[in-house]
Amino acid sequence: MIKKCLFPAAGYGTRFLPITKSIPKEMLPIGTKPLIQYGVEEAKSAGCNTMAIVTSKYKKAIEDYFDTHTDIEQNISGNSKEKLLEPLNSLIDSTIFTYTRQKEMKGLGHAILTGEPLIGNEPFAVILADDLCDNSGDTVLSQMVELYKKYPDYCIVAIEEIPKKDTDKYGVIDGEFIEYNIVKVSNMVEKPKPEDAPTNLAIIGRYILIPEIFDIIKETKPGKGGEIQITDALLTLAKQGKVLAYKFEGKRFDCGSIDGFMEASKYFSSNLL
Ligand code: UTP
Repeated sequence: MIKKCLFPAAGYGTRFLPITKSIPKEMLPIGTKPLIQYGVEEAKSAGCNTMAIVTSKYKKAIEDYFDTHTDIEQNISGNSKEKLLEPLNSLIDSTIFTYTRQKEMKGLGHAILTGEPLIGNEPFAVILADDLCDNSGDTVLSQMVELYKKYPDYCIVAIEEIPKKDTDKYGVIDGEFIEYNIVKVSNMVEKPKPEDAPTNLAIIGRYILIPEIFDIIKETKPGKGGEIQITDALLTLAKQGKVLAYKFEGKRFDCGSIDGFMEASKYFSSNLL
């Protein structure tokens, strides 16, 4: 039902300088896999077969990663290291990767709009690879796709409760619980100060969006930080009663911050050693 997953991956990742001067943030490794591979695997688990990746001229490493590397493959051919590449190669063989470039970093909403030619007129998922999610059962995006089957006319955003002091790092929602883990959203605010935040329910980097969002983003003026914010575009749909927020099952690491990245490295190390 949801076949395409968009990955906005054009941001500069300035919190990770100096490494992000030449290594895209999405290519930072947790163990031996880059963040974006975890995202692609999650998208596949939810039934998406096409990855629409919004990159920039500084992010060529992402395209190279999801491609063959004949020199290495010849070098390890027939020896025990071959198995190290097998899972990635089978992911590459079974997935369509499409790319477009964001030329100016005008924000997440603008990055999503840049992906419109790759998505077309169909509902789609969005994963921010720097939000790394883990769950022993269904992945977060699989849970959201299941919910979308029940509510096909809605956009769905994943939310989690955060400490009130951190609201200025997130888009924050308000609304009415229609099930114990689903909110019908009536208001959304991008990075409010704790005293202005309507709730402590923060949007994390998983979305299911309906294609109407593209025209709405085109009409959305720059907001917080002078950037075109997806939260502002979604507010237009929320006012029409078309946005649900979903409290997902699982754990999320903010790998866009140094602390979250270190925490994720520790958490996943037991699985990787
Ligand atoms: P962030 O604000 O977390 O990423 O954007 P950033 O700007 O790269 O990081 P810092 O703050 O400088 O360290 C969330 C997501 O949106 C993408 C980013 O790549 C990230 O996945 N993004 C953001 C774009 O693709 N384009 C933009 O113009 C802005």
